[in-house]
Amino acid sequence: MMKRNSLFRRKELNIEESNRNKLTPSLGSIDLMFLGVGAVVGTGIFILPGTVAAKSAGPGIIFSFVLAAIVCAFSALCYSEFSSRIPIAGSAYSYGYMVFGELIGWMLGWALVLEYGLAVASVASGWSAYLNSLLRGFHLQIPHAMTAAFSIKNGTIVNLPAIIVVLVIAALLTAGIRESTRVNTIMVVVKIVVILLFLAVGIFYVRPENWNPFLPYGLSGVFNGASIVIFAYLGFDAVSSAAEEVKNPQRNMPIGIIGALAICTILYVAVSAVLTGIVSYKELDVTDPVAFAIHYIHQDWAAGLISLGAVTGMITVLLVMSYGATRLVYAISRDGLLPKAAAKLSGKKKIPVRATWIFAVCVSLVAGFIPLDELAALVNMGTLLAFMAVSVGILFLRKNKEIPEGGFKVPFYPVVPIISFLLCLFLISRLSATTMIACGIWFVIGLLIYFIYGRKHSNLNGK
Ligand code: ALA
Repeated sequence: MMKRNSLFRRKELNIEESNRNKLTPSLGSIDLMFLGVGAVVGTGIFILPGTVAAKSAGPGIIFSFVLAAIVCAFSALCYSEFSSRIPIAGSAYSYGYMVFGELIGWMLGWALVLEYGLAVASVASGWSAYLNSLLRGFHLQIPHAMTAAFSIKNGTIVNLPAIIVVLVIAALLTAGIRESTRVNTIMVVVKIVVILLFLAVGIFYVRPENWNPFLPYGLSGVFNGASIVIFAYLGFDAVSSAAEEVKNPQRNMPIGIIGALAICTILYVAVSAVLTGIVSYKELDVTDPVAFAIHYIHQDWAAGLISLGAVTGMITVLLVMSYGATRLVYAISRDGLLPKAAAKLSGKKKIPVRATWIFAVCVSLVAGFIPLDELAALVNMGTLLAFMAVSVGILFLRKNKEIPEGGFKVPFYPVVPIISFLLCLFLISRLSATTMIACGIWFVIGLLIYFIYGRKHSNLNGK
């Protein structure tokens, strides 16, 4: 029996307790796939194929995307086993809490707060940039000082569109999951249509000589590229945090997660191939590579539509990532590791309205005032750490007889979880030293919060 004050005391899967505060199951596998593609395809597809090709991988970025997809697919299988055995909100945080105990669970939750928070903030500022260029197409302009985070050099004070978009998304989420999912579905369709439009127009202008050399930065460039483009896949784990609201999670979760991942990979590889085929990778280090390539081939009519698609695409990413984050804050607060007041569910649909607004206000301030370039790599770090924990967690999960058997099992156990763990470790080793130091600082803050607050207020106190 675990001591009640142990740092590794484990949360048990208390069916009764989770039923009492339960979110209503309303999502099927197709909803999840839409939620997945909505969460995953965003800034990544509209920016990374250009910048990463130019700086890290050349046309070989295709391999970076495939490698990143393989890493995600392995992790996705592990996520699916967890989510079908532990169908409660909170993703890697909840899984970690149950298999590794409180301290590691909390640290994972803390890493995920960073991942989701910074991802939403970065995408919101990317969204704002694309919105500005879209408006310019209509000869409209937001005052310059309000178009980007505070910077004396650039003469900007606040990124107003970024703040507004984060708050509008929060309002949509508090209106209820079904409504938000419907908005998401429409936008996912628009986004895919626009990407297909780019492919259909661009393919006729591909010059295969642009793919030569294919690996200008060698294999090392491909690996470095993979550690960056993992950002483009980020979001599918947000789907697993919806497990509590999924009908028949044993069947629907794995189908939803892996289906979404497959669709995204096809889109990324296709866009990268066409993009680097139209323009030499050397010229692609621009903020809007897809629109740039379209101008390059003088198909300006399509550029406006593509900017519109980019703006729409990013909204769905914001929607699903914010959704995952608010459920995470809800789950952590419900367990008492953050103030319980944030876990209050409101209305007939039992929506964590407070958690939603707390998250949205904090993130909108970050997106509005802080320049995020350096911090964005931290998103990948948080993601990969969570992937690693979930992968190795499967080994512990299988040994845990207290958690009831679930429907989905990782194939080729234990090879798949172990490979998944090692692949994530490999990609982490490709991230910069600055990223690692910043991540260390975040963890120290997390430890302080845990020892000053969480440990004393945890639900497991006195059990
Ligand atoms: N995967 C998300 C995107 O590419 C974060 O925008």
